[in-house]
Amino acid sequence: TGYTEPQRGQFHFSPRAGWMNDINAPLWHNGQYHLFFQHNPHGLTWDTMHWGHATSPDLVHWTQKPIALEPGVHPGDLWSGGGVVDTADTAGLKTGADAPIVVFTGTNGVSLAYSNDGGRTFQNYDGGRQVLALPANSRDPKVFWHAPTGRWVMVVWTDNGGNAALIYTSPNLRDWTWRSRYAADWLLECPDLFALPLDGTGPTRWVLTDASGEYVVGGFDGATFTADSPTPQRMDQGANSYFGTFYAGLTFQNMPDGRVVQMAWQPGNTGKGWTGNATVPVQLGLRSYPEGVRLTRFPVAELATLRTSSQSWADRTVTADPATDPLVGLTADTYELVAEFDTAASTASRFGFDLHRRADGSYDRRVAYDRAAQTLYGAPLAPAGGRVKMRILVDRGQLEIFGNDGKLSYTDNVAFDSSPGSQGLRLFAEGGGVRVVSLQLHRIGSTWG
Ligand code: FRU
Repeated sequence: TGYTEPQRGQFHFSPRAGWMNDINAPLWHNGQYHLFFQHNPHGLTWDTMHWGHATSPDLVHWTQKPIALEPGVHPGDLWSGGGVVDTADTAGLKTGADAPIVVFTGTNGVSLAYSNDGGRTFQNYDGGRQVLALPANSRDPKVFWHAPTGRWVMVVWTDNGGNAALIYTSPNLRDWTWRSRYAADWLLECPDLFALPLDGTGPTRWVLTDASGEYVVGGFDGATFTADSPTPQRMDQGANSYFGTFYAGLTFQNMPDGRVVQMAWQPGNTGKGWTGNATVPVQLGLRSYPEGVRLTRFPVAELATLRTSSQSWADRTVTADPATDPLVGLTADTYELVAEFDTAASTASRFGFDLHRRADGSYDRRVAYDRAAQTLYGAPLAPAGGRVKMRILVDRGQLEIFGNDGKLSYTDNVAFDSSPGSQGLRLFAEGGGVRVVSLQLHRIGSTWG
């Protein structure tokens, strides 16, 4: 395939052929980002899980590699899990010059596989025997290095006795000790646990997330997680389920620059040859707002390197009169819109963008801000300092909307019609004028070689 089918993301990773679900073991190793994913290479639906594999020098150009973990070669259920780079060779598995990549998988117990050739091939540790037995109905081990205690931490999901995250620690990735259980009704599959500085430079806080993108913020001492409030928030406003548009994200391990970068599974998009794709990588942040501390998601800076042509406008008022709309007459297929509106200086009740518009005025999707309701695309977003910012990513089947620098994240699927007569754009305003502080249109090229 040339990655040219309808709905095939041009700047979103998807498997060349077959089904993908969860992101597994995202990590950086020796100059390359690695992405593994739940994969059925033989069909378009979930079946017989393999670990697919892709690498990237820059987080945004991905090249699919041969299967990393394969049934029959690697024993057990090759279900979701994490992976680490064992820089100090704590597990004693290193044979060459490079630090081993060690990945964790299995259901009701955890097995290790490791690579000494930069992720090209994975060996079973101890014949694939489980290094850790888990209670029944437990899975999805995510592992990270906890520097303050100088040991590895594993967080595992269970619904044994109610939904919970189980926390284990190890000095060497092979011998694990149970430490604690964080019980929460909302916690469903694929937990992740990571640290972020509050407001960029403030104290370190910990975030516990699940597959449906719910999270709580709290403290973690290397053994026990304590939430500030038991009420979870949602990091993405899309349909957060296995059959929705946003699920099972994980953060990269061993990042060279300290950023916390996450990719998630975007279910639903399907073509003749493949099903499912990954979201764009986003940088996570933790910010204080009047209503509390919230996780922010915003595309990684590298995404801007995909821009092939850019146009920009500033300081104008757009009304219902098309002559005031700078986008009239322009066309774009896969692109990014970056806009800042002065809502305080606007009279329009609703404004925003019509995407993939045709000459008859119809369009594939409208992204609207409602001033009275203070919602963007139907999700709450209050203006900040009288301004509303939008960053909208439009791919062939993927629509990702970020509001106010990642305060709002909304991952959606739209089967955009990319035929030439359907590539129009419109900045619309209803009930008055909208004050446009700045507007940019960046066309984005295909990342497929
Ligand atoms: C989440 C999930 C995981 C499991 C995997 C199997 O989507 O159900 O809990 O490990 O998918 O593919």
